[in-house]
This record gives sequence, C-alpha cells and structure tokens, in this order.
Amino acid sequence: MTPPKYRRIVVAKRGGPEALRVVTENLPDPAPGEVRVKVEAAGISGLDIMLRARRFPGFPKLPFTPGVDIVGVVDVVGDGVEGLLSGQRVAALLGFNGGYAEYVCVAAKDVVVISGDLDAAEAVTMVANYLTAHVAMHEVARVGDCDRVLVHGGAGGVGTALLQLGALAGLEQYATASKPNHELVSTLGAIPIDYRNDDFVERIRSLTDGGADVVFDPVGGARQLWRSSRALRKGGRLVWFGVAGSKDRGAKVIPASLLMRGLLGLLPDGRKAMTTPDLLKDNERYRRILDHLMGLLAAGKVTPIVAERVPLIEAARAHKRIESGRYAGKVVLVTDA
Ligand SMILES: NC(=O)c1ccc[n+]([C@@H]2O[C@H](COP(=O)([O-])OP(=O)(O)OC[C@H]3O[C@@H](n4cnc5c(N)ncnc54)[C@H](OP(=O)(O)O)[C@@H]3O)[C@@H](O)[C@H]2O)c1
Repeated sequence: MTPPKYRRIVVAKRGGPEALRVVTENLPDPAPGEVRVKVEAAGISGLDIMLRARRFPGFPKLPFTPGVDIVGVVDVVGDGVEGLLSGQRVAALLGFNGGYAEYVCVAAKDVVVISGDLDAAEAVTMVANYLTAHVAMHEVARVGDCDRVLVHGGAGGVGTALLQLGALAGLEQYATASKPNHELVSTLGAIPIDYRNDDFVERIRSLTDGGADVVFDPVGGARQLWRSSRALRKGGRLVWFGVAGSKDRGAKVIPASLLMRGLLGLLPDGRKAMTTPDLLKDNERYRRILDHLMGLLAAGKVTPIVAERVPLIEAARAHKRIESGRYAGKVVLVTDA
C-alpha cells in the first residue's frame, strides 16, 4: 500500500521568499509522548522571515520548515500520551520551526486543548502574538489600571494584541504607526503617533506631560531603544521584545540591542529596561496563559486582526506581503483553502 503523503514548506537554501518550497513527503507517525496534529492554521512571524533570510547561531540548520504557532485537530495519539484524544482541537507553540505544514508531530505536553468553535486563524494569533503581549504587559511590565503606555508598532501582530489587552486593562494608550495605520490604532483605543514624520519622544512627553509609565518596544536597535527610554517618565519601564525595525530583520539589530540591554540597566531616575522570557522553558505557565487567552477570544473580549488567510502552498506570497509592509495585524497560513 502507498504510504499517505502530506505537504510542508521547506527552506533548503536561505534567501528571499522564493526560498520557501512546497515538498510532498510520507506522513510521519508521532513518536512516544507526541500527538500528530492536522494543521488548520499556522502563524507567520518576524522570526520566520529572519531565519529564512539569514543564519543565526542557535537556530535550526537547513533544511527546515518555518512556523512557531499552530492550531489544528489531533489526528493520531502517540504511545504513552494521556489526556488527549483524536479529534480534539488544539493549539501549540513550537520550538523554532515546523508549523508551515499540513501535519505536525508535537510533544503532547506542549499542546493546549481549545474550543472547537473558535476560528482557526483568529485562535492562532493567541499562540505567539497575544501570549507575548500578555506576558510583556502583565508579567514583565506589571501594568496598573491607570498606567499610560506607549506601544511601538501599534498596527503589527503583537502591537494590535497589546492594544486590545491594554484596553481591557483600562490603560491610557499611545501607539506609533505609519500614517495609513492610524485609523486602526485609534479604533483600538490608542492615540496614534506618526513615527516616520514626528519625533515620538517629544510627542509622548507633551501628550503625557512628562513621559509614559511603560514603553513596549518590538522595534529594537540601539538608537530606537535609547529613544524609547527617553520617552519614559521617572521610574518608568521599557519592555523590549523584538527587532521589527531592522530592514534585514535582525542581522545588525540583535547584537546592537544586546549591547543596549546592558547599557539600559544603567538608566537614570529609577527607569528600568526589561525583556520577555522564553516561555517554552516554563510549560505550565505558557499553557495557563494560553488557556486564559483562548477564553478571552471565546468570550469575544478580544477580536484579533487577521490581515489575510493565505493558503499554505502560497507561503512565499505571504512572506512577500509581509516584507512589503502593507498589512496590519497577522498574516496566517491556512490549509483548508
Ligand atoms: N520575544 C518574543 O517572544 C516575540 C514574540 C513575537 C514577536 N516578537 C518580535 O516582535 C517583533 C514584532 O512582531 P510582530 O509580529 O508584531 O511584527 P509585525 O506584525 O511585522 O509588525 C511590526 C510593526 O512594526 C512597525 N514598525 C516598523 N519599524 C518601526 C519603527 N521604526 N517604529 C515604530 N514602529 C515600527 C510596523 O509599523 P507600520 O506598519 O505602521 O509602519 C509594523 O506594524 C518582531 O521582531 C518579532 O520577531 C518577539
């Protein structure tokens, strides 16, 4: 009998979006302790673009399948797995890769059971974007309900999540975005700042009479982080968690930002700089937060912005769209198209 096949996207040689190739292979069985998930939706993140384009120490070697966040249905349960059944809807945050596929084998301990009623593309935005936003806001910055916050990249995947969670927490919000994204940012309850044409440090200082309590910075780079620290009031907190401002997605920004993190430890007047933790190292915590976020989605308390649902086999087109910068929210790959 011919073994069943499945398709996945593979990067065999680093380069532009055309480096994403569709391959058809034999469908793997889950190892002991794993479940096989039939993927419905896979998120695309800035990390995927960086790893497709360049080599970074500690990240997967070629060939690899990008994708860190998935939602799907358990298809086969591996030996030794308890508490999961075939047919259950699940979400998972994968290590560094693997999500751009019709099927993925995942350690059972890393999946979270979710409601069968949720839209797969909306649910997958919870797995990396809202999770990062929640941790940055409630576990790192520990916002209070009257805090004034500045969210950089307010129209991005994590930025829109921060603004929605911030609105739920009763924060006074300001957000940097390109002009075409100002309407969206306003709809999400923030006062927009045009980072391309205005000096955001001056704007936030005048709007808040002295600076923000918290600045969330997914943009990175030494100059940007320094300026973000200047946008804080005395005693304020800067939370850095990305390199979205880098044209080459991190090649130069990461070392500069790491250096910056050391220097930011020396900020004056009680200002602090912090970053988000690696959640995969704390499985219980990640599952608990993801479960909470799926609850918010099911209750209609957050409404994720899905920029486009792109068929899995058109992953290269999706990367092109992201690199063009002409989108807001999150671009999601889907398998049912
Ligand atoms: N540490 C973690 O756990 C974690 C998790 C998720 C994401 N991240 C990182 O966080 C970053 C953002 O992710 P994302 O998914 O939200 O990316 P995204 O959807 O691509 O959004 C990036 C946003 O950055 C904005 N931007 C670019 N340059 C800017 C600048 N100089 N000043 C202000 N805004 C600027 C863009 O705004 P306009 O389009 O309005 O110009 C865009 O909305 C990425 O580097 C990603 O790797 C980290």
